[in-house]
Amino acid sequence: MRERHWPFPAFPNGWFQVAYSDELGAGGVEPLEVFGRDLVLFRDGSGAPRILDAHCRHLGAHMGYGGEVDGDGLRCPFHGWLWNGDGACTEIPYAAKIPKGARIGSWPVHEVNGLVYLWHHAEGEAAGPVPPAIDEVGSESWTPFTKLRWKVGSRMYDMGENAVDHVHFKYLHGASGAPTLDQKTDEDGNVSNYSEMEMTTPKGPVPGSIESRGFGPGLGMVRVKGVVDTIILNNSTPIDEEHVDVRFSYMQRRTEDLRAQRIGEAMLRDLKKQMEQDIVVFEHKRYWTKPLLVAEDGPIGEYRRRARKHYSGSFASLEEAEREGDPKSG
Ligand code: FES
Ligand SMILES: [Fe+2]
Repeated sequence: MRERHWPFPAFPNGWFQVAYSDELGAGGVEPLEVFGRDLVLFRDGSGAPRILDAHCRHLGAHMGYGGEVDGDGLRCPFHGWLWNGDGACTEIPYAAKIPKGARIGSWPVHEVNGLVYLWHHAEGEAAGPVPPAIDEVGSESWTPFTKLRWKVGSRMYDMGENAVDHVHFKYLHGASGAPTLDQKTDEDGNVSNYSEMEMTTPKGPVPGSIESRGFGPGLGMVRVKGVVDTIILNNSTPIDEEHVDVRFSYMQRRTEDLRAQRIGEAMLRDLKKQMEQDIVVFEHKRYWTKPLLVAEDGPIGEYRRRARKHYSGSFASLEEAEREGDPKSG
């Protein structure tokens, strides 16, 4: 038996990236696999993104495969029933009457920063404040996004610890010195972090600063200042109970300086490598409810306590997990 289990829920509450705006054209229809569900994203006739449960309530066709946008709704490919963006059936082309209460689930959507976001709440609470706009997105002085994406076999609460675990930057990622950090997990469970560190690049160590800020459990933004100013949107969305969709979107301030461009490219390669190093750990580690920690490890306990606010339900099974196998239980 694999010594792997997570004594906490898979699905947090908040806004999560589900698409890039430029990949959902006019009339676009995309299947989504998020939060253990099959959903369908489409851009309605007014240009607004909408998200519905994917399976038509008539005879169950998945509307992400062959569904077509018609006005403010999505027409099922199987028998032509039309569902509007709020999930109401508005037309059955061959029938005199629409059955009473013909509805499917609809999901709150928000589009900003060239991204499409979905609101998820395990207990169905209304959507909270939308993700803030980032002025640099779409600006002439910045590059468009370079997009990276990974499917990671883990859970977000476990992966999130990485942001406050400053020691691993040296040992796993080969950062040249232990970074100086000012890491916090605020009362809302959002991790913020400021560090000055040297990044290892093929051109030698590059001094700079990294400032990161979370917005809910699924959205992060990192601003790197140094030879090349960079913004990285670091967004995670649960796919199912054992997988997370991780997207990095990089943009850099445009520069004519070739040396700066090359250092910027090297930094991007380094950040990609770091994520790939993290993934090997994420996919094979186990979660200790009571890890053995030393003072120098930093605010991991604080992250764990506060990040729970992003979840519905209790973490009561923690005690159970301790009895089951952690080394320091009792
Ligand atoms: S299954 Fe969708 S219209 Fe019949
Ligand atoms: Fe890492």
